[in-house]
Amino acid sequence: MRSPDSSRRQFLTAGVCLGCALAVSGCEQSLEPEVPRRIELAPLDSLHEPRTIFALEKLVVFRQRDSIGVMSMNCTHQSCLLTPLENGDEGYRCNCHESSFDIQGRVLRGPATRDLPWYAAEIDGQRMLVVDLSHEVSKEWRLNVGAA
Ligand code: FES
Repeated sequence: MRSPDSSRRQFLTAGVCLGCALAVSGCEQSLEPEVPRRIELAPLDSLHEPRTIFALEKLVVFRQRDSIGVMSMNCTHQSCLLTPLENGDEGYRCNCHESSFDIQGRVLRGPATRDLPWYAAEIDGQRMLVVDLSHEVSKEWRLNVGAA
């Protein structure tokens, strides 16, 4: 036969466990950073040939006269910011675990196994480049922005 204290203890234990579970699930949600899916990146006129790097957003914008392409600089292994290789035209390397990628984002050396994604973009009414991180495109996709 259980004493009233034993039942009360079980009730409190269950309450504490439920509280812990709620706290943990709440923590999981709050630990995941809110990643904006559309970013107003920069004014079109500030984007230079051949490329402009946005370290904070981990993006590189390639510009060639009237076309623009946007590629991630977020290492596909464990999300370190990539660094352009010495002359800047040969691709990128990751200083975390030495992965490297060619200028188009193809993996040259692991541990990364996935190429860098390219993203869709558009120019808004204020002539800002807006990047849609929820919409991956092919490496060949370019936004036509008219002659510079
Ligand atoms: S995070 Fe880039 S190689 Fe590991």
